[in-house]
Amino acid sequence: PRCIWLSRHGESAFNLVGKIGGDSDLSERGREYARQLPRLVKMSVGDRPLTVWTSTLKRTQQTAKYLPYRQLTWKALDELDAGQCDGLTYEEIENRYPDDFAARDENKYEYRYPGGESYRDVVVRLEPIIMELERQENIMIVTHQAVLRCIYAYFMNVPQDQSPWMEVPLHTLIQLEPKAYGTEVIRIKADI
Ligand code: G3H
Repeated sequence: PRCIWLSRHGESAFNLVGKIGGDSDLSERGREYARQLPRLVKMSVGDRPLTVWTSTLKRTQQTAKYLPYRQLTWKALDELDAGQCDGLTYEEIENRYPDDFAARDENKYEYRYPGGESYRDVVVRLEPIIMELERQENIMIVTHQAVLRCIYAYFMNVPQDQSPWMEVPLHTLIQLEPKAYGTEVIRIKADI
C-alpha cells in the first residue's frame, strides 16, 4: 500500500529569531535534522521506491539534501506568502499593522496578508499538488508549516478551514497511509 511522508524543513535561522517567511538557511539544529533524516526515512520507508518533493526555498532543499532519492522542486509548495509582513516577527506585525493582526486572529483561514496570501489561497494553489499526489506512488514532501497544515487536513478529511490549527511540529516525520475508512498516521520524532 502506498504512503505519503511529510516533514517540515529543519529549524531555520528565521525560526530561531521568530521571523516569518524569508528564504533563510537552516540553523545548526536544522542541519542536524537534515543529517538524521535519511535514517528516519529509511526506517519508515524501507526498500520501497520514493520520490521527494521540496519547495523552491533553501531551507527545504537543505533539509532534503542527504536523502538518496529522486527529488523534484515545486513552486506551489513554497510557504504561505506573508506579503508586506514577510521577514517580520509577530510582535513587529502587531505593532506596525494592529488591524491586520486582529483581523488574522478573527479569521485565520480567510485572512490575506497585504500583498500576500491567506490559508484559503494556499489550499487553492495546492490543488494541482494534491491531484498529482493522488496519482503517484510513494511521495515524501519536505515543505513549510502552513502548506503542510493544508495537505495534512486534506488527507485527514478535516474541513479545509481547520487547516490553520493542524499540529505539524518541527523535526518530526509524519507517515500517512490512506485507507478505505480513513488515513492512518504515524509520527516519528527526531532525536535532536
Ligand atoms: O507564515 C507561515 C507560518 O509557517 C505559519 O504560521 O500561520 O500560524 O502564523 P501561522
